[in-house]
This record gives sequence, C-alpha cells and structure tokens, in this order.
Amino acid sequence: MKPQELHQLVFNFRAARAVMFAVQAGLFEELCQEDLTLDELVGRLELHRVSTTILVETLVQLNVLNKQGLRYRVAQDLRATLRRDTEGSIANLLLLDANHWSNWSVAEDFFRPGQDTAFAYDRQSNFAAAMQQGVGDMNVRLAQVLLAHEPRHIVDVGSGPGLLIEQLLATATDLKYTLVDFANTLEIAKGNLSDYKHFDVNFLAHDIVLGKLEVEADCIVTSRLLMGFDEPEAKQILANMCHGLARDGVLVINEFDTQTKVGALMSLDMLVNCGARVYGREQLAQCLDELGFEIVSEQATTVFTRALSAKRKGI
Ligand SMILES: C[S@@+](CC[C@H](N)C(=O)[O-])C[C@H]1O[C@@H](n2cnc3c(N)ncnc32)[C@H](O)[C@@H]1O
Repeated sequence: MKPQELHQLVFNFRAARAVMFAVQAGLFEELCQEDLTLDELVGRLELHRVSTTILVETLVQLNVLNKQGLRYRVAQDLRATLRRDTEGSIANLLLLDANHWSNWSVAEDFFRPGQDTAFAYDRQSNFAAAMQQGVGDMNVRLAQVLLAHEPRHIVDVGSGPGLLIEQLLATATDLKYTLVDFANTLEIAKGNLSDYKHFDVNFLAHDIVLGKLEVEADCIVTSRLLMGFDEPEAKQILANMCHGLARDGVLVINEFDTQTKVGALMSLDMLVNCGARVYGREQLAQCLDELGFEIVSEQATTVFTRALSAKRKGI
C-alpha cells in the first residue's frame, strides 16, 4: 500500500458517515423516486437547510449523487442498493451501522477494559501537530502567493503554530510579520520561530471574532480559519480583519475547495464538530462584495485548497 492510499483509506470514515447520514435522514428514499431540488428535499423531510446543503454537496463530490441544474439525483444503478425496500439493498445495513457508529469512538473500553485512563491525548498539542501534517507543500505555495503581492507587512490571522510565517522567513527576512492568534497558541509559534528573534516578527494575542484588527498592514492572510465559524461570525471576522488593511492592501483567504472530495468532507467535518462549514468561492465572493472587496486572483495551494486574493473595489 502507498502512503497516499493509506491516507485515503483512513479518511474514508467521513465519506462512509456521509452516506449513513443520508440514509438516516431518508434522503435516498425520496431521491430514488424522483430528482429533487434542495428546497423540495428540505421541505419534504423537514430538514435544516444549511446542513442539508453541506451533506448533498458532499454526496455530489463522492459521486453518490449527481446534480443536474438545481436537481439532485441518484444514479439509476445505485437506486436498488440505496432504497430500503428492494432486494440487494444495503440501506438497512447502513442504518444499523449508523446507529452503532458511536460504539466505534470509544477505544479504551476494548483495548484497556476496566481502566478509566484515556489513551494519552493532549487536545491542544495534538491540534497544533495535526495542523502541521497532511497538507504537503500548502504553505510553500501560499507563501509564493503572498510574496507575489510584494508586501511590506504580512499579518497572519489564526496563524496557529506559525508555519506559514516560518516558510516566508526562509526566503523573505526583510519584511514585517505579525502573527495573530490566542495567547497559548502564540506561545507554540514563538517556540517554532525562535531562530528568527532578530527579525521583525511580532505576536499579537487577539480574538478576531470579538474585536477589530488594530494593525496597519498591506497584506493580511488567513488560512483555514473561517471554516470553524458560522456565517455571522465568519462575516464578523472578515470585517474585523479588513479594519487593519491599508487602503490598497490585499486580503488573502486560503481555504479548502468545496468543489473537491476532500474539501466537501472537510465541510461536513466542520458541521459535525463546530456547527460551521467550509465557505465556497461563491459565498466568500459574496461576503467580500458586501465589505466592498472583489477577488483579484486565485491560486490552488494544494489539490484541495485554494487561495483567493481580494482588494477593495476599484483598487
Ligand atoms: C485550523 S487552525 C489553522 C492554522 C493555520 N492558519 C494553518 O492553516 O495551518 C485555526 C487557527 O485559528 C485560531 N483561532 C481560532 N479562533 C480564533 C479567534 N477567534 N481569534 C484568533 N485566532 C483564532 C486557532 O487557535 C488556530 O490556531
């Protein structure tokens, strides 16, 4: 087995769960009978609109559903398998697994029966390490996108452990950098960037949902931050970031691409874990438009992430 195949195998648990969600919600019972729009589906099954959008768009990326115009459909070949009342159906098995799913989440009960101690898990350091892994050369490409704008002061909002700034410092030591995150995360970033103490690297502990960014920068970047927030919060973050941007400055948003399998599953993951979602290009373009910004360029930073660069309209 190749590393990439192992990666896919393990993350397929999200894809499997997406299909189970759909079985549980009764999506296939409706869609195996006729093609429906999102509004029809939501209306018939009395579902939450945003969550259902994320789910059906994920199923499209997984090729379980097809989208024709505004209508979603189940391919003819899959109908007998996904309906609950047909010979050859796996829907009842899936429903069974969907209801047994939570048993799969508790490792200690089986591998250390009778012991209360959890398998070692420090949430914060695990999160920091996970953020560094599995994205290949995303930060290399994102750094290239930023430097192409010829900035003097780059502010990274939701900088995490500082890997993007470290990447930038590898080639551009003469710029000013500011990392913005929670104080405890910035401590990790300070450790990672300790070799660069003598350069103009600044750390600003700030909650970007709660307050405007009080800096003056010609380049503000945010990577994999917005997806952790619901729409009103994501809009507030964008507005708070724009406050710190020079009139002719550039705002760069690096996020998962919802038009890919990985990006769509990440959106479902965000919904399940924080009630949020990955914002697609069109949604971001609309939010930026409301703030008086327009997208001026976009580049892929991995096969499943892309960076949008935006400036104030007319600049
Ligand atoms: C998913 S990580 C992304 C880290 C890094 N930008 C990357 O792409 O690898 C999101 C980061 O945003 C930070 N963050 C979350 N909410 C924030 C807030 N309200 N204000 C500032 N930072 C926040 C988290 O602490 C975390 O470091």
